[in-house]
Amino acid sequence: MRVHVPGDKSLTQRALILSALAEGESRISGLLFGGDAESTANALRALGAGIPQIPSDGSEITVQGVGLGGLRSPGSQLDLGNSGTGARLLLGVLSGSAVETTMTGDESLRSRPMRRVTEPLRAMGARFDFLAEDGLLPIRLRGKRPLQEIDWSTPVASAQVKSSILLAGLTGGASALITEPEQSRDHTERIFRQVGVSTESRAVADGWRVEMHNPPNRISELDFRVPGDVSSAAFLLASAVLGGTAASLDIVGVGLNPTRTAFLEVLERMGAEITVETDADDENLEARGTVSASLSSLTGTHVGAAEVPRMIDELPLVAVLGARAQGETSIRGAQELRAKESDRIDAVVRNLRVLGVDVEEHADGLIVLGSDRPLKGRVEAFDDHRIAMAFGVLGAAPGNDIEVDDPHASGVSFPGFWELLRELGAGSHA
Ligand code: S3P
Repeated sequence: MRVHVPGDKSLTQRALILSALAEGESRISGLLFGGDAESTANALRALGAGIPQIPSDGSEITVQGVGLGGLRSPGSQLDLGNSGTGARLLLGVLSGSAVETTMTGDESLRSRPMRRVTEPLRAMGARFDFLAEDGLLPIRLRGKRPLQEIDWSTPVASAQVKSSILLAGLTGGASALITEPEQSRDHTERIFRQVGVSTESRAVADGWRVEMHNPPNRISELDFRVPGDVSSAAFLLASAVLGGTAASLDIVGVGLNPTRTAFLEVLERMGAEITVETDADDENLEARGTVSASLSSLTGTHVGAAEVPRMIDELPLVAVLGARAQGETSIRGAQELRAKESDRIDAVVRNLRVLGVDVEEHADGLIVLGSDRPLKGRVEAFDDHRIAMAFGVLGAAPGNDIEVDDPHASGVSFPGFWELLRELGAGSHA
């Protein structure tokens, strides 16, 4: 069966932001039509960018950019909803803009750490006041142009932190040099190239270094097609592997950026029947292609710190697959999971225990013991799309009967997920 998945969440946010900052009209298509994209688009509209309604079918839109110095203070506070990427990237953009505003988000976003971006952005010259708790949204922000240049070492490998600093450097006209412990996804560096901003990246003794020297004072329009989200495709691939779909799946037009694809390697290592074909005609500097998967028997595996950044969003799914694999599956070096839309280690452990799965919790990960006994029970989404969908996939596997308390949580990145899962499963082995 040939399937499409919604547009990539990370690239959608970056395409919206850069086309808002470009001078002139950008043309973008394939955008995610989902809660997180809408949150970022709304914030950019409030800041003055001409962003039309995001279409639900991925068709092209034209964005009227305001230029690097053209954002204006919004009339009311910016509410980024559930979107950590939107919030952190925009804190960077606004730091280098002559703008004053308050940023907030939903309950989950208001509990997520912001100091990891406000600290370097403060060092560049932006001003922040935490209006509730220290280090958390809501935040009052005062941007400044020009900003001071920065050479920052971040203790976590985070594309959001790296991108926030790069975007501040871009709007604030300052060089930005960043070292992270492992390479995080490089979408910002790639999309920068398309609008005429160059960065240099290389492995260094203490990790990975990205340097942007003397950014330009204007960027060119974007002409960009967003590929399908490999992190959304991961749920469907996992379902096919577990026998939750009636036939094997070919997911087409999926982004295959190598900084995002470690899950595909792990699936293969677990014994999954999976093939990856990269399209030759990639005009976007972001690889895309077709990933196919079918019913397979799985063996447990180990995922450690070196692989974590390249599959950070797929780790709950690996744990869930581990519950259906032979032997133990362990995930370690993944303490970052505790700072996502939920504490994903705690959420996965609690839910697996409700279903009677043998699981051991660690500060930086977990160890799951697989079995083939039927798994039944009611689990929680914890306000987290990826937790809801991971357990939806486990529930669709043959013999299992799992209810997710808040299935709607999936809407921020994968609207229509449950309908598609049901449709693909009709007549399956389940
Ligand atoms: C993202 C980076 C990752 C990821 C998130 C999207 C991005 O977060 O978990 O879903 O678009 O930059 P971190 O940078 O915090 O690891």
